[in-house]
Amino acid sequence: MRIVILGTGAGGGLPQWNCGCAHCDAARDGRIPPMTQSSIAVSANGTDWALINASPDLRQQLSATPALWPGQLRGSPIRSVLVTNGDIDHVAGLLTLREGQVFDLFATPAIHDVLAANPMVSALAADKVARRPVVMDQPFQIAPGLQATLFAVPGKVPLYLEGDTVDTGLVGEQTVGVEFTANGRRVYYIPGCAHVPDWLAARISGADVLLFDGTLWTDDEMVRAGLGPKTGRRMGHVSVFGPEGSMAGLAGLTVGQRIYVHLNNSNPLVDPDSPQRAEAAAAGWQIAHDGMEITP
Ligand code: MLT
Ligand code: MN
Ligand code: ZN
Repeated sequence: MRIVILGTGAGGGLPQWNCGCAHCDAARDGRIPPMTQSSIAVSANGTDWALINASPDLRQQLSATPALWPGQLRGSPIRSVLVTNGDIDHVAGLLTLREGQVFDLFATPAIHDVLAANPMVSALAADKVARRPVVMDQPFQIAPGLQATLFAVPGKVPLYLEGDTVDTGLVGEQTVGVEFTANGRRVYYIPGCAHVPDWLAARISGADVLLFDGTLWTDDEMVRAGLGPKTGRRMGHVSVFGPEGSMAGLAGLTVGQRIYVHLNNSNPLVDPDSPQRAEAAAAGWQIAHDGMEITP
């Protein structure tokens, strides 16, 4: 199996266009690496690829990734696109794929409904881009030789569909994790997760690779930095650090490689020289970077 991290950042990326925080300024100055928004590409054979999430930065990400270039007058090695929720950082890039290329679009029925409710998404012509509703917990072939299984993880509806009250711990079709299997390997991709229940840790146990929600280091870091009123809990993202964080919740599992993805620009892990990076490394975690390739 081959996995390419196309984009490591959470919504907004690093630098975020309207943010002058120390991290965003450091990324503008070239002192820390920039991060485009959340997406990966996965292949079992190195020839046929599945895109998991289509970020607003997709065009730039495809240009930077030779494995995803056309290789012919018109065409693409991208056989399918799967979206794990309806968040803008995971679906806006679909509009970048409107040039009449044939591929399958996989999502849960609930997320397909969200996409279908937006008339702009009909730019992906139905005779070219087949909408494939995925039943939870049933394996399907997402690209030749590559099996995927979707499973619900704690989350919430997309920001733009929030009503007056928001359930931030929904477990259903609106937020899913993905299990990939190919060539005897097992890989998990979970870019959004509101907390780490025991059943989730048990499911991940024994994986070759885990790519997990690293949005925030601490639950209230955006509030304390003056960047906004929301905690991670309110955004549907478990923090990395702390007694209820993902480092603690996933400690002790046997996992080949554990890697944080979907990092917000407020997270000190975006700075390779931060003490938090060293702390995560000591706990066995790597931090993804754009263009990172993983071959489990
Ligand atoms: C998130 O992961 O919380 C979302 O990307 C927020 C957003 O849509 O901007
Ligand atoms: Mn996001
Ligand atoms: Zn910033």
